[in-house]
Amino acid sequence: MDTLDPRRFLSALLSMGIDQYVSGSQERPTLTRLKARVEACTCCELSRSRKSVVFGEGSERARVVFVGEAPGEEEDRQGRPFVGRAGKLLDQMIERIGLNRKDVFICNVLKCRPPNNRDPEAPEVEACKGYLAAQLELIKPNLICTLGKHAYNTLMGVDARITKVRGILTSYKGMRLLPTYHPSYLLRNQGAIKEAYDDMEKVKSLLAEVSA
Ligand code: URA
Repeated sequence: MDTLDPRRFLSALLSMGIDQYVSGSQERPTLTRLKARVEACTCCELSRSRKSVVFGEGSERARVVFVGEAPGEEEDRQGRPFVGRAGKLLDQMIERIGLNRKDVFICNVLKCRPPNNRDPEAPEVEACKGYLAAQLELIKPNLICTLGKHAYNTLMGVDARITKVRGILTSYKGMRLLPTYHPSYLLRNQGAIKEAYDDMEKVKSLLAEVSA
């Protein structure tokens, strides 16, 4: 039977008296299925040292997705993103938009913790960035808010300084993208918090524009 030409394939099935065909090979992609794949991933060295895979969490129908860098120690222990000190600040930023964690989706470029919280390395980003792209494709948020330079540079394919690009609205595959500071940076540089809160005001008005 010719299974490559769909017409001939279907007429061959009909000639055998089969008038219904459900393909098992093309499962509809969902976040749950993607999560199972990511949890089994061994594509880079970080899979050897991780305690957990931190896929991300929140609403599948989130209008905003926050993208950080990589899980830290506490995130690795709990298997959840942004649960440490930086996470508390991210919660406050989300509250500024009038939302809470359950309304948004929070994830990272890397799904596994780099040892000693070092910066992600290029092969790790290469191995993991497809998962982030798939998450965004499945959620299709109205807005992506990148936290810090790694998330921005990974999605935009550039090597920019966050101080140069933060607050400047751009787009990624047809989705609006607003870069802001990483909460860990804000914990060390309290003077930048006002700018991050300004960015959250911008997020709020962009979302209001979409729902108007
Ligand atoms: N920093 C990140 O980038 N992500 C986390 O999940 C926690 C801290």
